[in-house]
Amino acid sequence: MAKILVTGGAGFIGSHTCLVLLDAGHELVVVDNLSNSSLASLNRVASLAGVAPASKAGPTDRLQFVEGEIRDTPCLEAIFQQAEAQGQPIDAVIHFAGLKAVGESVAEPLRYWDVNVHGTLSLLQVMANHGCHTFVFSSSATLYGYPDHVPIPETAAIQPINPYGYTKAAAERLLNDLATSAQELWRIACLRYFNPVGAHPSGQIGEDPLGIPNNLFPFVSQVAVGRRECLQVFGGDWPTPDGTCIRDYIHVMDLAEGHRAALDCLLEEPPQLLSLNLGSGRGISVLEVIQAFAEASERPIPHAIVSRRPGDAAITVADPAEALRRLGWQTQHSLQDICRDGWAWQSANPQGYASEP
Ligand code: NAD
Ligand code: UFG
Repeated sequence: MAKILVTGGAGFIGSHTCLVLLDAGHELVVVDNLSNSSLASLNRVASLAGVAPASKAGPTDRLQFVEGEIRDTPCLEAIFQQAEAQGQPIDAVIHFAGLKAVGESVAEPLRYWDVNVHGTLSLLQVMANHGCHTFVFSSSATLYGYPDHVPIPETAAIQPINPYGYTKAAAERLLNDLATSAQELWRIACLRYFNPVGAHPSGQIGEDPLGIPNNLFPFVSQVAVGRRECLQVFGGDWPTPDGTCIRDYIHVMDLAEGHRAALDCLLEEPPQLLSLNLGSGRGISVLEVIQAFAEASERPIPHAIVSRRPGDAAITVADPAEALRRLGWQTQHSLQDICRDGWAWQSANPQGYASEP
């Protein structure tokens, strides 16, 4: 059992990972500024895990919540100090907090660099101050830009094509420099997610984007549930078998298990820096997603092919062999599982967490 600080733990991937970590027996402190999430997600995680609700948790509960900002160094200092004062220092940090919308990053590069890079720096500085050297970082396949070939191994060129991608590349660079500076101390995993989608099979927690979704899966599920009329398919003339883009969609519960496996590996093995793709190795086209979601929801998904979206690559698919070799981890869920669980969440919560206090 470890005591883990989870930044951004109220968000999509963080909430599912918190559930997996609680089920594995860990004790969690979540810090999140709720800029893109609500505490309802963590209360539902607590209920699924059978622990006290995050909103009412005291210092001895297994899921504690601090509404705070990762760039606020005194706030982070206070979290580490309080854990030490309780005789249970923070053993590891899983760092989800960050901004993730590609288009927004083009419009607001200062904010993206501030939160994603400065925020990560601030967190690492506080960790170093407190002798905590185990760190799991939410990186992204966006690092690879337009990949030279697929499936993409971790050795592929890091060549981001937008500010969001550059912030992830900069944070990975920082982590590499840090690991090099004190190889006997740091235990770091940079997990490069491909396309995280789906929801917990209970339908209690899932993805709840603010406003109009940028990403395919939440848009498709909102069309299925009647919140949006029609999906725009960005391009039908890509060099792929059906003309639509191919991605490596990974069930969020597989991703959450990947974090648990990475944390176990870091805690058990000698200090090291791991950079690993978390993907399935399976490429799925936009039209295949639409068909599978229509089958799972038993609803039509009205869609229209429109022009390509700037910045898209035709195909991105992970080579996940290294994660299997280093962590013994691989995805377990099919596209059908993803759509079934995504629909369970969307149909039970048509407005996401909006109805919660
Ligand atoms: P999310 O927006 O649902 O979760 C991020 C959480 O961080 C939110 O709860 C938000 O309120 C919080 N947050 C944001 N800025 C903060 C700050 N300054 N201080 C404290 N909390 C802050 O996003 P997600 O999909 O769960 O993504 C988690 C991480 O994974 C992000 O770093 C993202 O870049 C990365 N990632 C996501 C995807 C994806 O497609 N979802 C793909 C690759 C990488
Ligand atoms: N798409 C549509 N219509 C939509 C939305 C998306 O046709 O309304 C298409 C896109 O053109 C693309 C595919 O669906 O071909 C997937 O698009 P997403 O926006 O869901 O995902 P991306 O592959 O563009 O990017 C996502 C995250 C990035 C992350 C990347 C790799 O948004 O932050 O996965 O992890 F970096």
